[in-house]
Amino acid sequence: VHLHQKHLDINSLEELPDSFKWTQVEDINHPITDSFMSESVPVVDLLHPNALENIGQACKNWGVFQVINHGIPSSLLDGVENTSKSLFSLPIQQKVKAARPADGVSGYGFARISSFFSKLMWSEGFTIVGSPVEHFRQLWPQDFSKFCGVVEEYQGEMQKLAGKLMLLMLHSLGITKEDLSWVGPLTESKGGCAALQMNHYPACPDPDQAMGLAAHTDSTLFTILYQNNTSGLQVLKEGAGWVTVPPIPGALVVNVGDLLHILSNGLYPSVLHRAMVNRTKERLSLAYLYGPQPSVQISPLPKLVGPSQPPLYRPVTWTEYLGTKAKHFNKALSCVKVCA
Ligand code: SIN
Ligand code: FE2
Repeated sequence: VHLHQKHLDINSLEELPDSFKWTQVEDINHPITDSFMSESVPVVDLLHPNALENIGQACKNWGVFQVINHGIPSSLLDGVENTSKSLFSLPIQQKVKAARPADGVSGYGFARISSFFSKLMWSEGFTIVGSPVEHFRQLWPQDFSKFCGVVEEYQGEMQKLAGKLMLLMLHSLGITKEDLSWVGPLTESKGGCAALQMNHYPACPDPDQAMGLAAHTDSTLFTILYQNNTSGLQVLKEGAGWVTVPPIPGALVVNVGDLLHILSNGLYPSVLHRAMVNRTKERLSLAYLYGPQPSVQISPLPKLVGPSQPPLYRPVTWTEYLGTKAKHFNKALSCVKVCA
């Protein structure tokens, strides 16, 4: 962990320090330059009769799609966006009171993936697992409760939507509830587990040299992301390079994570993504990181494997996979590959 970053407030920097200049370490596999955009991320209308088929195609070809008509009221999206804005606007001295402990998962801090890179990222984050109450009490001792309501409501709505999407994704793979004992637990209200990750990318004096969040795949089944109306999210598409996911008012971005990649035996690949920053506009995003119960074994679905399609991955629990990710980062998926 970069100790010097801990109390550094990127919101008050007027120049980009060298430690944030990524152009000096440009990685040939993940070029910082944007490619010519000839393709765009699919948009799925959940109320459209072809929604199921469209989700399947999007997961297979992109590993990401935007979803509209998802049933989350825009007033709630505005509400969490405003809460997140209020949170990151607090003085740094206040935010660090709710700092994420070195061995913990919840609280304020810089991107956890920072330890894999020599350069610093132009972002700050806040992770909430379970109830926001204790965190928000530290941030706003007087009036924390007014901020908790909207976040709790959002968590509830996301949980329902995640269950719905999980079922659709499984159906699109030809799997029904009857095929798996844990599909029920996963898609019903007390089903999967999740973390809420708020990200803030302040306006950046030198965006061409900076990186908001470096390229990674998520260690989730899938992630549901809300982004405010500032673009920045990019996904890597084979043959097209880095493709920007344009903000659509009221839409949510759904991206396949490593566990769905494993579950689908590679049919639905987890998508490499990153966040770029902007010179004049701050950017906010809110990721609902959705996974199974931590001790459930995840392995390629029996229906998807056979003599001609051997399982590519060995069974892992979410807990185990997170440990592998923490050690091997973007190589974690290959670490759980079945040896040929
Ligand atoms: C993330 O990958 O967790 C966030 C991406 C974004 O801010 O768009
Ligand atoms: Fe991510």
